[in-house]
Amino acid sequence: MISNKSFFNNSKVIPVDQFIENVLYNKKVGYYSSKTPFGKKGDFLTAPGISNLFSEIIGIWLVSTWHTLGRPKNFNIVELGPGDGTLTKILLKTFQKFSSFNQATNIFLYEKSNLLKKLQKKNIKNLKVKWIKNFTSIRKGPIIFFGNEFFDAIPIKQFFRKNKLLLEKHYLLNKKNKIDEIYKKASKKYVSQIKKFKILKNLKFVEFPKLGFDELNKIIKKLSKLEGGLLLIDYGYLTPKNKNTLQSVIKHKRNKLLDNLGKADITSLVNFNLLNEYFIKNNLKVKKVVTQKFFLEKMGIIERANNLSKKMSFKEQSNLYLRLKRLLDTKLMGNLFKVIFAYKSSKDNFLGFE
Ligand SMILES: C[S@@+](CC[C@H](N)C(=O)[O-])C[C@H]1O[C@@H](n2cnc3c(N)ncnc32)[C@H](O)[C@@H]1O
Repeated sequence: MISNKSFFNNSKVIPVDQFIENVLYNKKVGYYSSKTPFGKKGDFLTAPGISNLFSEIIGIWLVSTWHTLGRPKNFNIVELGPGDGTLTKILLKTFQKFSSFNQATNIFLYEKSNLLKKLQKKNIKNLKVKWIKNFTSIRKGPIIFFGNEFFDAIPIKQFFRKNKLLLEKHYLLNKKNKIDEIYKKASKKYVSQIKKFKILKNLKFVEFPKLGFDELNKIIKKLSKLEGGLLLIDYGYLTPKNKNTLQSVIKHKRNKLLDNLGKADITSLVNFNLLNEYFIKNNLKVKKVVTQKFFLEKMGIIERANNLSKKMSFKEQSNLYLRLKRLLDTKLMGNLFKVIFAYKSSKDNFLGFE
């Protein structure tokens, strides 16, 4: 068993986001450094693992976006947090059917976990794909960033409003080596940052993705120089929850947040209207947030499934439609998962949102 002490950076008290950052990404004991989380034998399944149709549709959306941007000769796409590499693996296959697009496109993967980077390299094996630690080497041509379940995996800060005072939630390592929750007066920096967002006003419980915004800032900086955009698909909400949305899973089952630290995945629900406000404040245009069901259907996922199924046996057809149902059903992933596209371009006719 990993000692709780390993997640505390040699201190006794740390804010929620720093604690979870250690639990997930510490190079020795972090979840993403020691375990492959995906698939039946892992802890959870994501859309690319459910059906290749999902990745194909993202591929078609990328090709359509290249068309919208005027078929540039030099086009860059960056997958954020590629997991086991399945999405990009299927994209490469899909892109073979679009030769001018394929020739114009450079593919980059942005991954934090060394263990997952190794797995991606093993699964992808294609010289066209480059792994990058930052975006400085991309200097020419429009750029599209995209990530599935990227943002939910970046730890958040949590605050509680007591009367007019904002308190930040911390974890404390007590004398028995157990973890307690405590609240400390929030620093002025966060009080003033949180005040700037209309969507966070009057909430008793505030979740603030400081580390997520740090990542977005790097992307926004790039988009201030190059034309392009950022597509995020994730589970989340439009109306603030006003409560703790951190959740932990292990072997496809819910787990108590502080149990199995380093062995279970921890995520939070994404506040899509906060993202929307953030992008607008940073001079990007934003398409109306839509559900995964809306986006995938608009991009033709049902027609694609119908086409594929024509050559399939009954058993294969059942499997295909069962997986499609999982992606689209409003009681399964269809509504909970949402899609946001923020962009900097004089063009507006990007597909999937209207
Ligand atoms: C929940 S997984 C999703 C994986 C994949 N996109 C999928 O849909 O299966 C989150 C991914 O984001 C990566 N990640 C999280 N934070 C990151 C960061 N700050 N920079 C780069 N990658 C990050 C994780 O290591 C992992 O690959």
